[in-house]
Amino acid sequence: MTIFRDLSQHILDIAENGVKAGATLLHITIEEDTSADILRIVVQDNGSGMNVATLAKVQDPWYTTRTTRNVGLGIPFFKQAAEMCEGTFAITSTPGAGTTTEAAFQHSHIDRPPLGDLAGTLLCMIVGFEGVDVLYEHRVDDREFTLDTRDIRAILGDDVPFSDPDVLAFLSESLREGMTSLQGEVA
Ligand SMILES: Nc1ncnc2c1ncn2[C@@H]1O[C@H](COP(=O)(O)OP(=O)(O)O)[C@@H](O)[C@H]1O
Ligand SMILES: [Mg+2]
Repeated sequence: MTIFRDLSQHILDIAENGVKAGATLLHITIEEDTSADILRIVVQDNGSGMNVATLAKVQDPWYTTRTTRNVGLGIPFFKQAAEMCEGTFAITSTPGAGTTTEAAFQHSHIDRPPLGDLAGTLLCMIVGFEGVDVLYEHRVDDREFTLDTRDIRAILGDDVPFSDPDVLAFLSESLREGMTSLQGEVA
């Protein structure tokens, strides 16, 4: 079982659940409000969703539908991380429509994991989750960075994959620039 060192790894794990559930769109929102001292992460997928029974079990550390591994710990770990940081955790799901996972943390909490390499993690998702679009919205107080792979797909057309070296370089650069702009640094 992977030990998640930072929040980007939690996000990747939660997003992967959505992809396994057949999602074609992942909507990832990160909101950092430093005056309210809150960091909020929302991962929304349009996959198969979960019924009430599965939704109830899914936050139990000993539950998984997977047969290749005994336990699925991703969701319980994410929940625990948020709750350790004076935060909150909630999953809502609608069968046939999708699932939304929301975790909030006290931004300045001493135990809050760092966000980690968000640009690298997003690049992994965009290239690795074939056929899945990613809408990424990240706000830090009044600064905002948005990336929507559907916009990029519309420009590229259907023939050029995100794994094309030039596209990969463009995506990597866009993500890194976006993350830098959120820090309010002068380029
Ligand atoms: N976003 C989701 N959409 C549909 N089902 C989900 C989602 N997230 C979790 N599940 C269900 O809950 C189970 C447990 O998830 P998880 O703890 O991540 O373990 P694992 O992914 O290893 O199976 C999954 O196998 C799946 O059946
Ligand atoms: Mg999982």
